[in-house]
Amino acid sequence: MQDAAPQTIYLADYQPFGWTIDSVELTFRLFPEATRVLSRIRFAPNPKAPSSGKDFFLHGELLRLISARIDGQEITPVVTPTGLRCAVPSGPFLWEAEVEIAPAANTALEGLYMSNGMYCTQCEAEGFRKITYYPDRPDVMATFKVRIEADLPVLLSNGNPLGQGAGWAEWQDPWPKPAYLFALVAGDLVAHRDSFTTQSGRKVDLAIWVRPGDEDRCAYAMDSLIRSMRWDEEVYGREYDLDIFNIVAVDDFNMGAMENKGLNIFNSKLVLASPETATDDDYARIESVIAHEYFHNWTGNRTTCRDWFQLCLKEGLTVFRDQQFSGDMRSGAVKRIEDVALLRARQFREDQGPLAHPVRPESFVEINNFYTATIYEKGAEIIGMLKTLVGDADYARALDLYFDRHDGEAATIEDWLRVFEDVTGRDLAAFKRWYGQAGTPRLKVAETWEDGTYTLHFEQENPATPGQPHKDAKVIPIAVGLLNPNGDEVVGTTVLEMTQAAQSFRFEGLATKPIPSILRGFSAPVVLQRTTTSAEQAFLLAHDTDLFNRWEAGRALAKSALLAMVQEGAAPAPQWLEALAGLALDPELDPAFRALALRLPGEDELAQALYDAGATPDPDRIQAARREASQALAAKLAPGLPALIAAMSETGAFSADAKAAGRRALKAAALMLQARLDAGQAATAGFASASNMTDQVGALSALLAIGEGQAELQAFEKRWGGNALVMDKWFALQILHAAPERAAELTAELTAHPAFDWKNPNRFRSVLGSLAGNHAGFHRADGAGYRLLADWLLKIDPLNPQTAARMSTAFETWGRYDANRQGHAKAQLDRILAATGLSRDLKEMASRMRG
Ligand code: ARG
Ligand code: ZN
Repeated sequence: MQDAAPQTIYLADYQPFGWTIDSVELTFRLFPEATRVLSRIRFAPNPKAPSSGKDFFLHGELLRLISARIDGQEITPVVTPTGLRCAVPSGPFLWEAEVEIAPAANTALEGLYMSNGMYCTQCEAEGFRKITYYPDRPDVMATFKVRIEADLPVLLSNGNPLGQGAGWAEWQDPWPKPAYLFALVAGDLVAHRDSFTTQSGRKVDLAIWVRPGDEDRCAYAMDSLIRSMRWDEEVYGREYDLDIFNIVAVDDFNMGAMENKGLNIFNSKLVLASPETATDDDYARIESVIAHEYFHNWTGNRTTCRDWFQLCLKEGLTVFRDQQFSGDMRSGAVKRIEDVALLRARQFREDQGPLAHPVRPESFVEINNFYTATIYEKGAEIIGMLKTLVGDADYARALDLYFDRHDGEAATIEDWLRVFEDVTGRDLAAFKRWYGQAGTPRLKVAETWEDGTYTLHFEQENPATPGQPHKDAKVIPIAVGLLNPNGDEVVGTTVLEMTQAAQSFRFEGLATKPIPSILRGFSAPVVLQRTTTSAEQAFLLAHDTDLFNRWEAGRALAKSALLAMVQEGAAPAPQWLEALAGLALDPELDPAFRALALRLPGEDELAQALYDAGATPDPDRIQAARREASQALAAKLAPGLPALIAAMSETGAFSADAKAAGRRALKAAALMLQARLDAGQAATAGFASASNMTDQVGALSALLAIGEGQAELQAFEKRWGGNALVMDKWFALQILHAAPERAAELTAELTAHPAFDWKNPNRFRSVLGSLAGNHAGFHRADGAGYRLLADWLLKIDPLNPQTAARMSTAFETWGRYDANRQGHAKAQLDRILAATGLSRDLKEMASRMRG
């Protein structure tokens, strides 16, 4: 990882590799300190490459080369820290090498490493080069045959099993793949098994591999997998293509999960669930990530990316697909609301600061730093816009063409857009700007009404982002509906296609001036800037037929009420309280929707809004205003809360489905408010009687939010001390809810807790990530929050650069705050940048943020 002069890689420099690979054979002799990897690779000059057969270079890092042969002849290549070079024959040849690696010493969790005594791999994006010498780039695709030798009961790799015996197993993956999809797992594991019969009648053996003792917490993940397989057949016509599909849960994992062909590897928190240990949010995440990784089999694996600049080709599309899936499994509108809330919290935040980058970047230093909300979530929004613009039928035809045309290939965004152009005859050159230009467009709206004609005037503004001062107008699909003053819809959802910087759209023959519902379903990832009255927002909150926009109207009301409290010291707006109370207690509405409506905009989101409006956010005032708003809301709802809590309390057997989860979410929201009225009495009772983790966390959060809950924290620790994933919640909750003046001290104390194994990424995130998530605590005026996080980033960076770099994004918002806070934050970024031996990962992040 350490590199004196990290190189910037440019999209414009792309060159195909000078050889193709016919087949790869790998043999692993696994030992913790000294694993041997033998490779046999058949290379042939690539006729499609300008550099065909010239300048043979293989990536390789942290490898000890034992021997190398070409066509059986021992050779001595020139070895550097990043790879090797040697002279090769002008025609096809056989490359053989033996290297030694040390999985037990691999703390970066990239390449082949060990987690709790088991061997596992993470190769995306560039981890395969830490396993053996290879052209480690996604456009080099090959079939792999793998032999594993180890004194362990379970030996897994990609594809179908070829054979196994005592201490060995062989696997063959018939589908050509890039090295980043390679995987190997070896350990003492047990399987939770099932099977799936595909639409053409092939039986696929399914297994989820976990550590002994965890097998009874795999049922939900398995059920999610089976539903994903069926859904991809029904909705996208995509069938699974191997005899076997394996998922392995590992405890030490940098990200969420990985789509290795036929052998997905997951962070155990995204597999293991039981009602006692997992919350409803955990269940929903498991369902969506299991689906996501499975869906990659077609969008990512069968068709992959030509280079890492095209990462959104597989990630944006696969996120879009998993969002569709979860929407179909649950409530589509509720899922959309949650996705948009996440997009704003993560991606809009990224776009607003120094880390803003295009969905298809033009350069990078460390590709692992580009697994971002922009690539994933904004990438998915672009797919959604395309679908809205071309319509469902053409979207389906374009996808069929994409799968057909690019099967077995490594493709680009140009290839992706071309299938849409070919199917629809449209020119998507202007639409393509969404991929190349960073930043969140601002969409201003004005209206005129004259002689029965209603006109909406839109103006778009595309703010500058680092390295991109000037932007062109985007193609923005604006879904609009019109309501008349008595609440009836007079114009149903219509998609306006905005292509200019300023554009007007007319609606004729209306009897009365309508109330517009704009950007229904959040049809484009833009900030809508519309000056409107709270009366109109309250009207939409009550009457809009589009559930997303009903929520949005409530959100807008809440935001303006809270901003007025922060900026002008105003009292909580009665109109907002009135509207929200009506909705919260409306038994006709979906409880999940009501729970979402009761969730106040977060402190970071309010800071983002203030900064957007040209103000300097004060974290303490934001925190106080939000607390005061909750108190006022609680008082407003007081008469109805006990009955609401009672009505939402589970009676029957536990179900993880969306309906039951929605009721628990509403109950938790009500309990949170009730705690402000009864000093936590109801929450204390709720904690004591909780029979599932959602209720337990809900009640505990309600107590912590009012400064209570110490006894409950102790009881929780006593009960769950042996379960690391549950203890992550224990760490996180108390830090997230700590008073701002206590957050850094409490975090420091907890880092000394025996259960805080800081080398485990989940644990690190649950403690340090929660400090970053405590807005007023992290941005404390004396800089204590910044200092503590920087201490830990510097501590973890030498061991695990990816986790350090990822967590460092807590600093990306420093430019929003006052000069004093900015000074403290910059000092910490400077301190990080001055550290010797800083990883390429953290160095790139800190210097981009420092500016
Ligand atoms: N392709 C994986 C997913 O989206 C993410 C893996 C990224 N890992 C990494 N170290 N960059 O499911
Ligand atoms: Zn993915």
